[in-house]
Amino acid sequence: MSVRIAIFGGTSAIALAVARRYAAEKARIVLVARDAAALERERADLSVRGAEVVSLQADFTDFAALPAVARAAWDAFGGLDIALVAYGSLPDQGEATASARAAEQALSLNFTSPALLLGELANLFASTRAGCIAAITSVAGDRGRQSNYVYGAAKGGLQRFLEGMRHRLWRDGVAVLDIRPGFVSTPMTAHLPQGGPLWATPDAVAKDIVAAIGKRRAVLYTPWFWRFILLIVSFLPRPLFHRSRL
Ligand SMILES: NC(=O)c1ccc[n+]([C@@H]2O[C@H](COP(=O)([O-])OP(=O)(O)OC[C@H]3O[C@@H](n4cnc5c(N)ncnc54)[C@H](OP(=O)(O)O)[C@@H]3O)[C@@H](O)[C@H]2O)c1
Repeated sequence: MSVRIAIFGGTSAIALAVARRYAAEKARIVLVARDAAALERERADLSVRGAEVVSLQADFTDFAALPAVARAAWDAFGGLDIALVAYGSLPDQGEATASARAAEQALSLNFTSPALLLGELANLFASTRAGCIAAITSVAGDRGRQSNYVYGAAKGGLQRFLEGMRHRLWRDGVAVLDIRPGFVSTPMTAHLPQGGPLWATPDAVAKDIVAAIGKRRAVLYTPWFWRFILLIVSFLPRPLFHRSRL
């Protein structure tokens, strides 16, 4: 039978690049996102590419609804082989430090909501003792930096959550993948100056994600060189690190 994958944040450029790769293998895909028109457009596109697609509209900021969202995605094809949690936003660090409300929104969308959803998915996957749960965090979660520590804290928190979930689900045979991309050209980063060797396309990152899911990897830096960049950043001594504008 073809693979069953649910994508939460089904309008994300990275997630859609992943979905197109699974569509080419005739996968059954559940796309979950807030924008009904965009969902319909992407459902039609993935169907043409060979997938069987169910779309579900959901508000990821409505925490009380998250258990039902996870359950509806699970039930769409009678269970799942893969779940990918991909939604998020890149807050303006200046706003997030000036306004507790802005910080709360960024922390809610990038940490609390995905953590609660992942918790629900963990219970569902544990019941069948198989499959892979993946979530997109970020290299920004590896070390707190002055330029984006609100976003970085949310993503770093999610990294720890996934680590604990992986430990818990290991006995159940469920793989948990923490995806840490560097700079990717998507609508989220459209306001930043792009280009150069550090920037990747969504499809290049998607190729790595699909391979890492297939190999049941625990942590993926994508593209690969970010593992070494972050190794250096993580071990920079504080006196040096604090003088940097990172
Ligand atoms: N691009 C990068 O450089 C980069 C680097 C590291 C990690 N990431 C992570 O990769 C993931 C995917 O992002 P992307 O780069 O593919 O960006 P994207 O194309 O802009 O996708 C962002 C996704 O998050 C959803 N979203 C944003 N705000 C939301 C809200 N308030 N409520 C519900 N959904 C919301 C968007 O839904 P709508 O379409 O409805 O807005 C969309 O599905 C994110 O978790 C991001 O943090 C990205």
